[in-house]
Amino acid sequence: MKKLSANETDLHIAGEAIKDGQLVAFPTETVYGLGGDGFNRSALARIFAAKKRPRFDPLIIHIAEMDALDRVGDRGVLPFSLREKAAVLSRTLWPGPLTLVLPKQPEVPDLATSGLNTVAIRFPSHPVARKLIAYSTGAVAAPSANPFGYLSPTRAKHVEELLGDAVDFIIDAGPADIGVESTVLDLTQEPVRLLRPGGTPRERIEELIGRIENVEKTGSAPAGVLSPGMLKSHYAPKTPLILLTRDEILRQIASHKPADGAVYLFFDEETREASGAADGFVLSKKGDCAEAAASLFDVLHQIDKLSAGYIYAQEAPERGLGTAINDRLARAGARGGV
Ligand code: TXA
Ligand code: MG
Repeated sequence: MKKLSANETDLHIAGEAIKDGQLVAFPTETVYGLGGDGFNRSALARIFAAKKRPRFDPLIIHIAEMDALDRVGDRGVLPFSLREKAAVLSRTLWPGPLTLVLPKQPEVPDLATSGLNTVAIRFPSHPVARKLIAYSTGAVAAPSANPFGYLSPTRAKHVEELLGDAVDFIIDAGPADIGVESTVLDLTQEPVRLLRPGGTPRERIEELIGRIENVEKTGSAPAGVLSPGMLKSHYAPKTPLILLTRDEILRQIASHKPADGAVYLFFDEETREASGAADGFVLSKKGDCAEAAASLFDVLHQIDKLSAGYIYAQEAPERGLGTAINDRLARAGARGGV
């Protein structure tokens, strides 16, 4: 594994490497991705191998210009209303942390989509990601650059520690701004469905296209089939995590329950102070959801190195990026199975 920085020379080296079938970990505005040419079967196979990712979990194809959308997805077969929604969303929210699931073009290898007839497409806003995609093949398959099921990487050093030599190059451009993965939206049928809450708040999407359905809450499809990122246990640290409301965490601390080697993860400083706990990690001093999302995985990576007995984590408010934080914490806490 060779480290690169985000200068033009290095980005061209990385772009050529992707054209050549190699794997490049790179920053996006959400988390670091593990990139390979989306049309090269052997590069795709290497991505699955590097992550130990089951073949049933499809990849997101990243593009860096609007015209590339139709090389990967086939909007043409959608009914008018869905075509319009795809147009409004891509025009307004791309580039940005939103992934659209659309019917796929036949040229997209089955390996990328795990044999589904749909494909997930994302146009990231991070300037380094955009250049890398543009300097390579214009269609880069990139899951988060972590072993399957584990915490996502928000820094180059997380990728280095987690994947090491399974990756050919890592581009280090500092920490990811948003810190949780993109929102995944299924646009292949009505009603439009939210497959993964993420960096684009649901509220923003609903302002543009009206109400969307939350697959998990309605139970309209078995989780794990529609979007394997919905596996109950995912994004999980090695340390068992218990998700608590603000009241529950305060009660837990007040009752002085013998919590062997427990580490507390507070959402905000105000709760930490109210609890009287001298230590513990705080996601956002002021209780700001965007700030909390940006530090979430980094703090969990740090805690996981402490070999604590348990992590007691406080829920975020269920709005904006708070929804994605709670989703990741809930999956981080779920153990054993799907
Ligand atoms: O923010 C992100 O989206 C990051 C950065 C690197 O762009 N990428 C990322 O990729 O999170 P990954 O592979 O870790 O998550 C992709 C999610 C998975 O939950 C996968 O199941 C879902 O997208 N997905 C991919 N293709 C799909 C499809 N055709 N239908 C439904 N879900 C799909
Ligand atoms: Mg992932």
